[in-house]
Amino acid sequence: MRILLTGSKGQVGQCFKDRLPEDWELIATDSKTLDITDAASVLNIVKSFEPDVVINAAAYTHVDKAEEHADTAFAVNALGTENLALAAKAVGARFLHISTDFVFDGSIPHPVSEHQAPLPVNVYGHSKLAGELLALNAHIDTVIIRTSWVYSEYGHNFVKSILRRGLEDGTLNIVSDQVGCPTYAGDIAQVLLEIAAAPQFPRGLYHYSGKQRVSWYEFARQILAAADKRNPQYGEVKVNAITIADYPTPARRPPYTVLDTQRLHEILPHPVPETPLQDTVDRLLA
Ligand SMILES: NC(=O)c1ccc[n+]([C@@H]2O[C@H](COP(=O)([O-])OP(=O)(O)OC[C@H]3O[C@@H](n4cnc5c(N)ncnc54)[C@H](OP(=O)(O)O)[C@@H]3O)[C@@H](O)[C@H]2O)c1
Repeated sequence: MRILLTGSKGQVGQCFKDRLPEDWELIATDSKTLDITDAASVLNIVKSFEPDVVINAAAYTHVDKAEEHADTAFAVNALGTENLALAAKAVGARFLHISTDFVFDGSIPHPVSEHQAPLPVNVYGHSKLAGELLALNAHIDTVIIRTSWVYSEYGHNFVKSILRRGLEDGTLNIVSDQVGCPTYAGDIAQVLLEIAAAPQFPRGLYHYSGKQRVSWYEFARQILAAADKRNPQYGEVKVNAITIADYPTPARRPPYTVLDTQRLHEILPHPVPETPLQDTVDRLLA
């Protein structure tokens, strides 16, 4: 199996590399070695490597900055995605892409399926939705995994920030009226591997996330409880529940984004067991 991976220094990209089967060939690109907004370079590298599968783990993921830098968000998340889909099509490769729960407005207080009409409330969500549509339109053999609240031992994420700020600040004010499902990047990577390994996989959109639905406040408490098992200082950290209104951000956030993941679980050739949060916290504190 020959895989071309973009965004290999991001959370999902790093986790994917860690899990790559030994007999698979990988070209792992990052923002320095392949800017996905450069259509000619994308086509060139894909044509010269001729992968079986192109996996796009690259994205402009700065949700608040995207409000001011809409051009960059759209260049990467929409046009960059289309460049990769077209290049995959040119060599007959399958295209696997990752999208987000932020394509929804979060107004429906129950899990949303792939049939629900998207309605983004911020620039990042709009740019990711545009990427989905362009990819599906560009290449028939496209699979898109929408996921949510990604964390891992790599990069920037909520788990790392709570562990750092917990000890630095002692008291944390965390939003309790925004609910979603934290998802370990390694599990997303495993899902991508399963799909890539399958001889055929039905094209289209799929939802995948961790099973637990929590507010950021509840998630912060879980992270600190897991960390307390290794370092009792974390048990001393005080967490106050605040509201979205108390914590204004440049980008609006959808208040409730729980993805209905049934479709993917029914179709995956092998189940991907969810990695416990404790494992990532242990790894980060080791
Ligand atoms: N993080 C979340 O909570 C979350 C939630 C839902 C969905 N998702 C989606 O999941 C996917 C993976 O997210 P992640 O958390 O792994 O993201 P990440 O850690 O931010 O990694 C994204 C990577 O993309 C690279 N990149 C940015 N612009 C690029 C360009 N023009 N060309 C090539 N590479 C570029 C970045 O490189 P530089 O750092 O060098 O710019 C970075 O290494 C993304 O599609 C994201 O939209 C993420």
